[in-house]
Amino acid sequence: MPTADALFETRLPLPGRRQGKVRDLYELSPDAHGPRLLLVASDRISAFDVVMPTPIAGKGRLLTQMASGWFALLRNHSMVRDHLLSTDLPFIPGIDDRLRSSLAGRTMVCRAAHVVPIECVARGYLTGSGWVEYQQSGSVCGVELPSGLAQCARLPSPIFSPATKAVEGHDENISFENAASLVGSELMTTLRELTLRIYSIAAEHALARGVILADTKFEFGFALDAAGAPTTELMLVDEVLTPDSSRYWDRAQYAAGREQASFDKQFLRNWLLSMVADGHWNKSAPGPDVPAEIVAGTVARYEEALERLFPAP
Ligand SMILES: Nc1ncnc2c1ncn2[C@@H]1O[C@H](COP(=O)(O)OP(=O)(O)OP(=O)(O)O)[C@@H](O)[C@H]1O
Ligand SMILES: [Mg+2]
Repeated sequence: MPTADALFETRLPLPGRRQGKVRDLYELSPDAHGPRLLLVASDRISAFDVVMPTPIAGKGRLLTQMASGWFALLRNHSMVRDHLLSTDLPFIPGIDDRLRSSLAGRTMVCRAAHVVPIECVARGYLTGSGWVEYQQSGSVCGVELPSGLAQCARLPSPIFSPATKAVEGHDENISFENAASLVGSELMTTLRELTLRIYSIAAEHALARGVILADTKFEFGFALDAAGAPTTELMLVDEVLTPDSSRYWDRAQYAAGREQASFDKQFLRNWLLSMVADGHWNKSAPGPDVPAEIVAGTVARYEEALERLFPAP
């Protein structure tokens, strides 16, 4: 059951509502920059591409704080523009104070983009689908790797491993060449360079705070003009470097050759896998109700990641 202060989903009196697995998106009136969107980070959580019926109370706020911390840090490096205009709640006509306060802290007003349909993944360590692929082929997304690497080993240098942005179902790892044939090789070359630079800046920031950024995923898009047509202005969009889009590990507990304790959804995934092993779930929708201790353990991990990466002054 959703708890009182959890926000599972929204139905705001704004046009253009659409829902991702975690965010609700709405259209806002354009400003001088062009068309704008309101992104609301709900407390939904997905695992194995299934949205769980139980919200993780407070998660949307933690994600929003973390993403805005990273956007601010990345802006200091002026590598690429980003879509974030404000994390202040804009005026929304006709909503009551209760809804306003449950939205506060979980909204991002953004410049709308034509999103490049490629997930830009950077991997510094061998885990997840990269580890599976490496065991089968010795390479990840067409990048040859030295033989004999252990599970979760640090890679000799971070690699770019693009994936398709599936409209439904699982994203699929593809080679750089495949991605280039979909969206153009000049664009993919730019995205690879940006992805690896942002990853290395973020990984260094995290490591200094006792956190390993094992891998992460970015989305990029082209800003829209006043008529809603894509321009050539590339922006970093979506959430960035949150535990939903990244694997964060505790540096103090890290050792190659096994799974790592992580600050992300792995805790929930492990519980779900035990449900699967016991025959209580088959990895398809609907997901099972998540018990209170798993909700609490998940939110505690997200909180700890935020406190470590961006300690309150
Ligand atoms: N500036 C932007 N302009 C247009 N779309 C954006 C922008 N930033 C993010 N998005 C899109 O908003 C959605 C965010 O919602 P959420 O993270 O819940 O989706 P998701 O389930 O991860 O994504 P998907 O749509 O890939 O299933 C994503 O589809 C993302 O591509
Ligand atoms: Mg997303």
